[in-house]
Amino acid sequence: MQYILDTADISFIKKAIDLYPIEGVTTNPTIIAKEKGDFKSIIKGIREVIGEDLMLHVQCLSLDAETIVKEALYIKQFAGKNVSVKIPVIPEGIKAIKILKSKNIRTTATAIFTAQQALMAANAGADYVAPYINRIDNILGDGAKVVSDIVQLFNINNISTKVLAASFKNVEQVHKVCLAGAHSVTVNKDLFEKLIYHPYTDLSIKTFISDWEGQYGKGKTTLDA
Ligand code: G3P
Repeated sequence: MQYILDTADISFIKKAIDLYPIEGVTTNPTIIAKEKGDFKSIIKGIREVIGEDLMLHVQCLSLDAETIVKEALYIKQFAGKNVSVKIPVIPEGIKAIKILKSKNIRTTATAIFTAQQALMAANAGADYVAPYINRIDNILGDGAKVVSDIVQLFNINNISTKVLAASFKNVEQVHKVCLAGAHSVTVNKDLFEKLIYHPYTDLSIKTFISDWEGQYGKGKTTLDA
């Protein structure tokens, strides 16, 4: 299970990769636009912070295969070595994924709402498929079930494409897709730290410290013993 950050906020990315086992960063046009800067500089800035080894997913905007491929080749020029080009699962997007596969360029099929979309994208050669969990749940769907169907289809067909579940609003959604067999989750900055937060953990630590300090003195740790 890979944890990925769904943000272009450089200071959060810096802090999170220092603290947590993060495997990469995903962006989309909305996330980039929120930063209110120059696209190329934002992507280069993220690459600088995450280094060459972590993966970076960057999305194209065109609606025809030929221009999507041009965007992908352009993004590849400055987004670093470990990059996957995000392409929505429209018919021209599927065509672009096929073309990019033949050019050995990694792709992430995105804006996925159904398991059939994921299967088609995987057959076209996508390296990742990104189902949108919260957006599926919001329309009375079941995001975790979609993930579990995709995982089942990939297993039945021996497909190596990875499921990168995206669009989360709460920890329960993340947890359910982990149990459903997603290979990665990309989580926004508001939710990421909630994944490990528990008030009883904090309370336990508070008690440990006060018991220790009661015996050994304020501010003391095992280093002072
Ligand atoms: O890239 C897909 C994901 O970021 C969408 O998330 O929260 O806008 O539904 P959200």
